Amino acid sequence: MSRVLLLLPTTSYRTDAFLEAATRLDVEVTVASEQSNSLAHLNPAGLLTLDFTNPLAAAECVATFAQRYPIDAVVPVDSQVVAVGAAIATALGLRHNALEAALCAGDKYRSRLQFQQAGVAAPEFRLCSFAEDRPELASRVPFPCVVKPLKLSGSQGVMRADNPQQFVAAVNRLAAILACPEVSGAEGDPAVVGCGADAAPAADPAQEFLVERFVGGPEVALEGLLTGGKLQLLALFDKPDPLEGPFFEETIYVTPSRLAPETQEEILSCAQQAARALGLTEGPVHAELRLTATGPTVIEVNPRSIGGLCSRVLRFGIQCALEDLILGHALDVDFEVPALSRQPAGVMMIPIPRAGRLCEVHGLERARGVAGIDDVTLSAHLGQRLVPLPEGAQYLGFLFARAESGEAVEVALRTAHDQLEFVIEADAP
Ligand SMILES: Nc1ncnc2c1ncn2[C@@H]1O[C@H](COP(=O)(O)OP(=O)(O)O)[C@@H](O)[C@H]1O
Ligand SMILES: [Mg+2]
Repeated sequence: MSRVLLLLPTTSYRTDAFLEAATRLDVEVTVASEQSNSLAHLNPAGLLTLDFTNPLAAAECVATFAQRYPIDAVVPVDSQVVAVGAAIATALGLRHNALEAALCAGDKYRSRLQFQQAGVAAPEFRLCSFAEDRPELASRVPFPCVVKPLKLSGSQGVMRADNPQQFVAAVNRLAAILACPEVSGAEGDPAVVGCGADAAPAADPAQEFLVERFVGGPEVALEGLLTGGKLQLLALFDKPDPLEGPFFEETIYVTPSRLAPETQEEILSCAQQAARALGLTEGPVHAELRLTATGPTVIEVNPRSIGGLCSRVLRFGIQCALEDLILGHALDVDFEVPALSRQPAGVMMIPIPRAGRLCEVHGLERARGVAGIDDVTLSAHLGQRLVPLPEGAQYLGFLFARAESGEAVEVALRTAHDQLEFVIEADAP
């Protein structure tokens, strides 16, 4: 029986989806995480603890493990483990992206440089240092602009500024976010992060950040699979809520896209160019693009699949999930990707309306009863301290819908969201 190594940070939302896919494909699983975890039902060969911050050391550790328990595929499930995945796959001679490409994709500045060099449409950018004089810097950046960290995800720390005052405030705020130990210690998707005012300063906070020209227009998310450098489209999501800032909460994703087929072709071609520019060749791709008057513009391309529980809306053929495709590809199984279900479906990531402690949740049954709603899943728990964007990177939960049209999916999601009431007790001043 084949064995797949899943790199699963303990904060990942993706555990169940990948374990279920492994069961369907009848493969053995070893779960590697950064802490000894609670998947106690797995046998000793099923668990491994790795230092995700040190790709080469992690690869060495896995190589030793693999002498006893041979590994046929490695799958990093979230952005924070993409580089480790590439290092391990290289050490074991498995199908994956080159480490250099994975590192490049994990750094927004390096990605922008590669896009620029390859002539891929992407926002104009400038690398800035926190040591620079901020009001002076404000006189040299374009407005409106976006201030962002180089290595976080989930829109954490991403802020729009329309004028010099907003710019200086955004840079100050980003500096505070990056100085928070939980953030500087974990590159990637910190699922539960909160920067308390009294947090101790980090040992080595980031020195630099990116400023980009704000690119307006509708945004889409593309899910694809790379094989030998060729990008195959798996699903295209419309994001019907306008993303104008100042913060960029992801809310509703609806698929199939309602865009014209020619536009969808252009999006795929732009994402393909971007993946090539980064040197990505194998495995899942999650790309975000804006549609401008001159065509699609790449916001980012990540060598991983869609985050959170969102992949649940994707159904390929009968009983085939996105994770089945990712595992099958990593194992080098020869298969045809079954067609994505044409039935319109969507997900809403429930944003955190304000900071505080989650005390009560009302209306769950009403939300579940809304026509078209498949499921409502809360990911925050009662008593949890909630931190909204841009400091936090959490969601309250996920709403899933299926209906006869994309519009009906949106209506179902919004109606169900309206039924929910979250009682949040503000933090004591
Ligand atoms: N230059 C830009 N112009 C317009 N919107 C942007 C720009 N950069 C980021 N955004 C918005 O912020 C969101 C998050 O930014 P992104 O670079 O994708 O960071 P993250 O890795 O945290 O998702 C994007 O999905 C987009 O809506
Ligand atoms: Mg993004």
